[in-house]
Amino acid sequence: MNIFPVFLGFLFISTFISPSLSKNCNPQDKKVLLKIKKALGNPYLLASWDPKTDCCDWYCLECHPDTHRVISLTLFSDDRLTGQIPSAVGDLPYLETLLFRHLPNLNGTIPPAIAKLKNLKTLRLSWTNLSGPVPEFLAQLKNLSYLDLSFNKLSGSIPSILSTLPNLDALHLDRNRLTGSIPESFGNFPSRSLYLFILSHNQLSGTIPASLANMDFNTIDLSRNMLQGDASVLFGSNKTTFSIDLSRNMFQFDLSKLQFPKSLASLDLNHNKITGSIPARLTELDLQFMNVSYNRLCGQIPVGGRLQTFDYSTYFHNRCLCGAPLESCK
Ligand SMILES: *[C@@H]1O[C@H](CO)[C@@H](O)[C@H](O)[C@H]1NC(C)=O
Ligand SMILES: *[C@@H]1O[C@H](CO)[C@@H](O)[C@H](O)[C@H]1NC(C)=O
Ligand SMILES: *[C@@H]1O[C@H](CO)[C@@H](O)[C@H](O)[C@H]1NC(C)=O
Ligand SMILES: *[C@@H]1O[C@H](CO)[C@@H](O)[C@H](O)[C@H]1NC(C)=O
Ligand SMILES: *[C@@H]1O[C@H](CO)[C@@H](O)[C@H](O)[C@H]1NC(C)=O
Repeated sequence: MNIFPVFLGFLFISTFISPSLSKNCNPQDKKVLLKIKKALGNPYLLASWDPKTDCCDWYCLECHPDTHRVISLTLFSDDRLTGQIPSAVGDLPYLETLLFRHLPNLNGTIPPAIAKLKNLKTLRLSWTNLSGPVPEFLAQLKNLSYLDLSFNKLSGSIPSILSTLPNLDALHLDRNRLTGSIPESFGNFPSRSLYLFILSHNQLSGTIPASLANMDFNTIDLSRNMLQGDASVLFGSNKTTFSIDLSRNMFQFDLSKLQFPKSLASLDLNHNKITGSIPARLTELDLQFMNVSYNRLCGQIPVGGRLQTFDYSTYFHNRCLCGAPLESCK
């Protein structure tokens, strides 16, 4: 049987009739969306949110193809959007993605209503004027895999309970005003691995918890904090880490004692208090980037691998490093 004409007929009907009848849009979701629009001061970004049309056709959101419930709300790049994150976002129960990004006039704190979004997989609130803490209630979002709260004005310490998130794969808390230390519990994420572990540009202090030896991160960025002590638990030959940036902290350990993941391609340790010498093991890695400048390293730079492909600024401002690309050893 040829169903094509039937299909075309259906397409015709749905194209011309559905918008005015709001055939797809869930009425409850629509009510909530209009509440959100109002709470944000009817910004230009949401001009397409016309109550007379099907909400599944509105910009900045996505409906599930079968259930037509709103599964994604993504608001970004609008200077004129002002106010706080409306609590009404918690009343979109099927939301899997929530994004507020590049909204300089979005302020206030992260509302507890977000904890109601049990299906949330991606939460990105970044490049805004949000302040207050990283809330503990985020740990109730058991489906969360991507948490990005970067580039805000969040303060206080990092809640240790975040390590109970069973599906977390990416944690971006960089460029805030976070204080305190990295929680001991961060060695116990159920998955034992995160793709992204980014805490850079904060005011974190203290040492790296020994428990992090259990974790395997793909990308670690702890740069520009006030962390100190030994960071060797972040390294290890049984890890599969690709990039480690510990630059501009106060780490103090012996570089020659580290074991490196074979996968390591980028290593930035500049501006710390790292001692020892550059181990020959580094010649075995396919390093694309390295910077160990401004430390307390000594001795000859091993010859081989990619170590001589980097320029002098990878190595300068150490206690007594020598050999190519620096001056030859006496
Ligand atoms: C954030 O809020 C402060 C006042 O609280 C204001 O001075 C600043 O311009 C706002 N925007 C950005 C992008 O920081
Ligand atoms: C948010 O910004 C508005 C306008 O600049 C200001 O009146 C309000 O006090 C701010 N609220 C918070 C919680 O910072
Ligand atoms: C969220 O998690 C619950 C329970 O863990 C599960 O039943 C549900 O299918 C998940 N939702 C999504 C969208 O993955
Ligand atoms: C790597 O080995 C160390 C000790 O040898 C162990 O404690 C840790 O759990 C291992 N980590 C991974 C990610 O396998
Ligand atoms: C290494 O870091 C120092 C300090 O930030 C910087 O001056 C230098 O240009 C960097 N070199 C490379 C190759 O990244």
